[in-house]
Parts: sequence; structure tokens; C-alpha cells
Amino acid sequence: MNIILIAAECAPWCKTGGLGDVAGALPKALARRGHRVMVVVPRYGNYAELNHTGVRKTYMVHGQSIEVTFYHAYIDGVDFVFIDSHVFRHLENNIYGGQRLDILKRMVLFCKAAVELPWHVPCGGVCYGDGNLVFIANDWHTALLPVYLKAHYRDQGLMKYTRSILVIHNIAHQGRGPAEDFSYVDLPDHYRDLFMLYDPVGGDHFNIFAAGLKAADRILTVSHGYAWELKTSEGGWGLHHIINDNGWKLRGIVNGIDTREWSPQYDVHLNSDGYVNYSLETLQTGKAQCKAALQKELGLPVRDNVPLIGFIGRLDNQKGVDLIAEAVPWMMGQDVQLVMLGTGRPDLEQLLRQFESQHNDKIRGWVGFSVKTAHRITAGADILLMPSRFEPCGLNQLYAMNYGTIPVVHAVGGLRDTVQPFDPYSETGLGWTFDRAEAGKLIHALGNCLLTYREYKKSWEGLQRRGMSQDLSWDHAAQNYEEVLLAAKYQW
Ligand code: GLC
Repeated sequence: MNIILIAAECAPWCKTGGLGDVAGALPKALARRGHRVMVVVPRYGNYAELNHTGVRKTYMVHGQSIEVTFYHAYIDGVDFVFIDSHVFRHLENNIYGGQRLDILKRMVLFCKAAVELPWHVPCGGVCYGDGNLVFIANDWHTALLPVYLKAHYRDQGLMKYTRSILVIHNIAHQGRGPAEDFSYVDLPDHYRDLFMLYDPVGGDHFNIFAAGLKAADRILTVSHGYAWELKTSEGGWGLHHIINDNGWKLRGIVNGIDTREWSPQYDVHLNSDGYVNYSLETLQTGKAQCKAALQKELGLPVRDNVPLIGFIGRLDNQKGVDLIAEAVPWMMGQDVQLVMLGTGRPDLEQLLRQFESQHNDKIRGWVGFSVKTAHRITAGADILLMPSRFEPCGLNQLYAMNYGTIPVVHAVGGLRDTVQPFDPYSETGLGWTFDRAEAGKLIHALGNCLLTYREYKKSWEGLQRRGMSQDLSWDHAAQNYEEVLLAAKYQW
């Protein structure tokens, strides 16, 4: 099959979260299964390893003609194509930034260019064309692609064999706006209804995700738990009716992880500053050394027997940072160390700094986004906290388990799918879960986890080993994607 994945971000070039990781890793796994795979992303920075393809195109976006060019790189069996235009280039550090209409216009340009790209941009000298082609669009940013595919081609009797799939990584962001925004997407008037949603609180509004979900041939999301939650009024964020109406198209597939980048054995961030690579065989000594190196790097007392708790993530309500904040007084009554890494809401960033200065011997609040530090915390910590209010899949708990770091999570979405609770009687399970996003519940789960860490070393090691022995690679998920791609392709 020819597969084109289109996303607003792609690691390692541009990444603000899990979407970037998925766009960087899933295509390679699909290519390993024998498909011809292309990834399309905006070119936000001046990425040195790319080649100009020499192709130029001009697109009209709300009466303004914008020229784009294309850059290409062939890496690990995948064609990466970057769309270059002045509207993306200046966004290096804030790729979703700007006024609502500017963001909308950017996404219109991006999707218009991407949907035509298989005909215009040769990769390895050959265009992808329309035979045997499936697009995989991701989140609201690219939800216009299935709509354009329908409006500009399928409705005209073109691209009979091309299909589109829309993947939901996070339904909370939808590309909403006032009804007038329809004039910006440049579609015939009979498409208006596809975008309009009636919201009992906010009234009629324009919604890009809604249109994409209706137009796509299949809908995917990143875990089974989240697929279920999307159908509820609480989890669907106003789109649950649409999800339910299109329920037959929906399937959940749990994300994989890049097991080369996120492996304690090969992790390039662990081969300096006192850190070491480790595997199942060298788990105890290797992890202890990483923990000591992390404590040293953070300026915390270097002590082997104090449980080191980590948090890595965006500082916002979704990630439950406020629950950790509420639990901090309790935690500070325990013999623990806590390190938190992330950026986000200024008040929460301030809170992290405040925790650090109030409890300088126990807490580090690292405000910023550092890939290296994220890897080192994942390796050096004993426990990873993820009290997310909702979590479509979550990747940090998967990374943690692969490094023998035990997750303590709120049992929602992908967290519930991937962290089976520890059962001390049968010595099974992978971590601790709690069933309501409340500080008391978090404290209860963390309390049990700490008790096991201190008193039941054998059980702890069992948890670590089970976590590290799982196959969390993309290969399995890619096989499931393939099933969905085939189902879409053979649907008439
Ligand atoms: C979004 C979700 C996260 C998921 C990621 C990749 O960032 O919030 O749960 O893991 O997308 O699918």
C-alpha cells in the first residue's frame, strides 16, 4: 500500500508532545511491513538534512495566494516531506501559536498542499499517485484533509481508490470558531453543514474536527479505553454524538514506542555524566547508578534507599499537576524525593519553582522542555506519577515501564489500558492505579507503592521485570493499523 501520514508535528524535527513521537515512529514501522510510506509536516525550522525537491506550488487561502515549496529526506525507509512557506517558518518555538484565524489559515494551506502532494512531489523520482493510497490524518490540525479529499476529488469522480483515516490523539482541541469561519476553508456551500455544531451552551459554531470525523473513511484513536470514553458526554467534549453516529468507523489501537530511542540499553542520554546503559540483566546495578547520577545532577542528596518519584509532562489541568500539588504536603512527610519536569501554565510553572525553594532537600521543579532530562528522569527515578484527568494513550508510562520505573496512574484512557494494577497475591500487574482524579486517591495509591518499594523488594523487582519484558514496540500496533487501512481501502 501507499500510505501518507500527515501531522502538524514530527519528532525529531518538531515535537511538543506524543503526537510528534507517533508521527516519527509509526511510519517507520509501517515501512518495515513493506509499505511505501510518506510523512508530511510543515517545515518550521531550517532543518539541515533536507533536500529541496524543486517543486513550487501556489495556493489560495482566503483570497491570498501563498507559495509553498517542498523539502525531502529519505530516512529509515520513509519519505519525509516538509512543506515550506513563510507562514510556518517563523514558528520554530511555538508551532501552535498565533491568532485563531492565522492558525486556521495555516492548517488550510497545510491540508490543501498535502492532499495534492502525492501527484506533484516525486520521492525517489516517483510520485505516490492515487493508486492504492491511504492518508492518515492526525487530530484537528489535519482534519481538513479528509474533507478536501472528498470535496476536491471524490465528489468529482477522481481518486476512486484513495481513502482517508483520521486519528484522534486528543479531542479537547477541535479547531472551533464562530460560524463565519466557514468562509476560510474554501469549500462549496453545501459543505457548510459538515462543520456546524449545535452547542447547548455556546450556540452554533464551526468545528473542523467534526467535519473531519464525518468525512474520513475510518476513525482511529490511540487506546481502547479512550475509544470508549469518546462516546460519552464527558469524554467526547461535545463531539460524542458525532462519534456515536460514526461508531462503526471507530477503533482504538494503543500506541507503541520507539524502542531504540526509548530503551535503557541503547539510550544515548545515558552514556555520560555518570549515567549508564542497562538491561534486564544489569537492572539493579545499572538503574542504581542512573539514580545516583540523577540525584547528583539535580543537586539532591545522593541516597540509594530513598524512593525517587518523577513527573514529566505539560503543566496543565489535563495532566493533573494540581493533584500532585495537593499531595505535596503529604509527600513531604515521607522520606521521598520528587522531580518534576515540564512547561505550561505560568501559575503551575511558578508553583514548581516554589516547591523547589520550599523543600530544597527533597524537590526539584525543572521548568523547561529537555529531551535529555526526560530520558534521564525516566531511567533514574523509581516511580513515575501520571495523575492525568484524561489521557488518550500516554507514552511516558510506556517509556517508564521499559526502564523498570514503576507507574502510578489515574486509570483513564490509555493509562487504564496499559498499566494493569499490581496484585500482591498473585504477584501480577505493572503498577498502581487509582480510579478518581482526586489527591486522596493519588495519595492512597502512592502510599501502597511506597510501602512495596520499602518492604517488599522481591515484589518490586518483579514489577520492574514484568514492565521491562513487555513488547511495547510499534511493530504490533503497525499490524493493527494495517488492518484498518485495508478495511478502509476495500470499502466502497
Ligand atoms: C496526545 C495525547 C496522549 C497520546 C499522544 C499520542 O498527546 O494527549 O495521551 O499519547 O497524543 O497519541
